[in-house]
Amino acid sequence: MKLGVNVDHVATLRQARQGNDPDPVTAARVCERAGAYAIVMHLREDRRHIQDSDIFRAKAVLGIKFNLEMSLAPSVVKIALKLRPQQVTWVPEKRQEMTTESGLDLLSESSRFARSMEMFRRKKIEVSCFIDPDPKQIILAKKLGAGAVEFHTGLYANQKTKRGVQRQLARLRLAVDLARQAGLVAHAGHGLDYQNVAAIARISGLKELNIGYSIISRAVWVGLETAVKEMNALIRS
Ligand code: PXP
Repeated sequence: MKLGVNVDHVATLRQARQGNDPDPVTAARVCERAGAYAIVMHLREDRRHIQDSDIFRAKAVLGIKFNLEMSLAPSVVKIALKLRPQQVTWVPEKRQEMTTESGLDLLSESSRFARSMEMFRRKKIEVSCFIDPDPKQIILAKKLGAGAVEFHTGLYANQKTKRGVQRQLARLRLAVDLARQAGLVAHAGHGLDYQNVAAIARISGLKELNIGYSIISRAVWVGLETAVKEMNALIRS
């Protein structure tokens, strides 16, 4: 299982004082050195953490996969097409939310998704759609021409009972199987931490986990390099 580290919250801390420290690009390089497979940054429309210059600097210095998380706001699409990262992950974005609360609804505005897909395809940028583990969304992601899907694990992470956890794991397993049968690469992420990640990492067919908040929080106590290594040790089978 491969680890994508989301460094948005390093930028959250920097933005608290609007200065230069801590720098998310330096953090990304530390993650690379510690064995991360990919770096994720989310360029939000409100620029609450990652800034335009961060993604261009990151793309220039990283030797590993750069995955830009983004909404389909026209101004952000323009920047993504200019940046040309190896992968973009399309996510829904609401101004008031604390984090990405749900997956995309590909059924709504599917012609807009199709038009955007064509633009990214022409630039040879891999598109992953962040969706709930819902068969309808998986089929539509394939129809639209996505190469990958990332399953939202937030509901799994929020379960308080063993039964609830098992139910969400079963749902995710089915979704991964369906995605693979459809020819999609399956990723997962959101709300994963050092306690709940192992069961997700055991799902056969999942290729990559994208994890941010728990790693950056752990880094406060043990340092970022150790936090990444600890997470990698948990997900590597
Ligand atoms: N994957 C996607 C698509 C996300 O939007 C986020 C949150 O930015 C993550 C993964 C990482 O979630 P967390 O910070 O809860 O680990």
